[in-house]
Amino acid sequence: MEPMRANAEGGKERVLLVDDDQNLLESFRRLFKDEFELFTAESAQEALSVLSVCGPFTVIVSDVKMPGMDGIELLSRVSRAAPDTVRLLLTGHADLQIAMDAANLGGVYRILTKPCPPELLRFSIIKACEHAQLLRDQRELFALKRCKVLLEGIVQGFSALVEARDAYLAGHQQRVTSLALAMGRELGLTPSELDTLRIAGLLHDIGKVYVPADFLNRPGILRQEELSIIQMHPEVGYDILKHLDQDWPVAVIIRQHHERMDGSGYPQGLMDRFIVQGARILAVADVVDAMCSHRPYRPSLGINAALAEIEKNRGRLYDERCVDICLALFRERGFKLETTPGATAG
Ligand SMILES: [Fe+2]
Repeated sequence: MEPMRANAEGGKERVLLVDDDQNLLESFRRLFKDEFELFTAESAQEALSVLSVCGPFTVIVSDVKMPGMDGIELLSRVSRAAPDTVRLLLTGHADLQIAMDAANLGGVYRILTKPCPPELLRFSIIKACEHAQLLRDQRELFALKRCKVLLEGIVQGFSALVEARDAYLAGHQQRVTSLALAMGRELGLTPSELDTLRIAGLLHDIGKVYVPADFLNRPGILRQEELSIIQMHPEVGYDILKHLDQDWPVAVIIRQHHERMDGSGYPQGLMDRFIVQGARILAVADVVDAMCSHRPYRPSLGINAALAEIEKNRGRLYDERCVDICLALFRERGFKLETTPGATAG
């Protein structure tokens, strides 16, 4: 018995054989019944009915000469109605040239001449199934690429949205992301972890959409209740993004980016071992850029003050390795925060 030809869902590949020779159909049905999920039709009209009731099929093999509609017309209709079905033509020598011309026009995958040995038909159907799988893979890849482009656009759009409400936040998430990624690379994060960190960096302050704009842009020290509302932004950001993907920790990183190693941060007051690595990286990058940026209540403090702040609180507020890497990036590697109007690198 031949092995079963499995499709992407683990079931047998579905094959439709069309020929007006009942004996030929019966012999192929016996030979291939264990290997493929085989359907047969004795005319093109019957094949169209089977297609509409039992389709879709991975492969259709059709005889050319049949009473009524011929196989060339049938496959041309199939190519319009079910373009993913791979089409094979079975023809006698006399009709070979007609079949080849039709095949070139109609995108037939392969032409087989009668009498066709069962092994050759079997081999051709297997190749057609592999071709169908290739087409499915290409389509999935294309869909995945489109999703990525779409996600990128949404991320950039949301990032711009939150920054548009706060003049002092302009470019902040972009700069934090570029510093966090440089740190992540030094820490040996995988490409997938870096991508997660990138999205979290670009959206880490998305929860500020719930903060009234005049709190964000007002000069002077904020009242306690105003501060409490601003301090809700990591939790709000988490709520906005928590349904994105259960296995994708973007929302968790955002929720924890103001947590501190000694438990003095917010919103949950988590201690070091409960804070995920992405949030530890982001916390350092965030505070460095924030201190280097102008704020409504103070001018930029400059990069030296920012580095002194993380160095002083290394291990107490900020992860030791993250601090060491950040300091090395600025002091030994010449790393610079991208500057934009309203924010300086010190
Ligand atoms: Fe924040």
